Amino acid sequence: MKTDPKDKLIVALDVPTFEEARQLVDILKGAVDIFKIGSQLFTACGPVVVRHVLANGKKVFLDLKYHDIPHTVANAVAAAVSLGQLGHDVLAPGKKQKSLTNGLFMLTVHTLGGEEMLEQAVASATQTAQDIGVTKPFILGITVLTSEEKKNNIHSIVLERAHLAKKCGLDGVVASSQEASILRQEFGSDFIVVTPGIRPSGKEAGDQKRITTPAEAINNGSDYLVIGRPIVEDKDPLQAAKNILQEIKQTNR
Ligand code: C5P
Repeated sequence: MKTDPKDKLIVALDVPTFEEARQLVDILKGAVDIFKIGSQLFTACGPVVVRHVLANGKKVFLDLKYHDIPHTVANAVAAAVSLGQLGHDVLAPGKKQKSLTNGLFMLTVHTLGGEEMLEQAVASATQTAQDIGVTKPFILGITVLTSEEKKNNIHSIVLERAHLAKKCGLDGVVASSQEASILRQEFGSDFIVVTPGIRPSGKEAGDQKRITTPAEAINNGSDYLVIGRPIVEDKDPLQAAKNILQEIKQTNR
């Protein structure tokens, strides 16, 4: 059965202030169900933005790409999972919407952190979710950042890091569309592939190197597309999101 295109689109709220994030969520909430909060926005305004998105009934992908000693990452992951519990009590009760998730939807750790760090991240997420009664978020491993693009054996590096992620109990990885089909072949359908670097035809590549269109990424086997600037910086973000959803709908997955 084909999935609703809305379940495949993640909009990156890469804006500098809470106010801009709030406006974007208001503009997009009729069409978009999943929002990514990354280091820029989280550093600027902190947990309040996570709670705001959850209180609007939307899913949160907290993309802070944890990479530190295992003990610190385990504690950071516990704190992140706990944010999911707070989301529902913040706005005025009359404004509360039924949330699409009981807790955060996804969060990221860096596979370069190594086996012990990844295992402790998963154990901490599982334990915290159980302790506070929320669903454990999907824990995703970052494989290769755009800044590592100069290496020429990128496919094998991604594959090696994805194997480590799987072995340590992660739910999936973040990887470019170009590796999505290899990952799909290697791991089957039971491993999430999230793909950034998506550019609808006619859009600027910006600093993204291995870019593909939304349809190519989905046809290559990506489960979720992370899209920031092509939506956030468009003069009509809602129409830009709708165009992308339409393109996803025309794929055969
Ligand atoms: O604006 P754009 O669509 O390029 O946004 C891409 C988003 O995906 C950013 O929030 C960025 O942090 C994230 N990302 C990436 N490349 C990776 C991993 C994550 O661009 N390898």
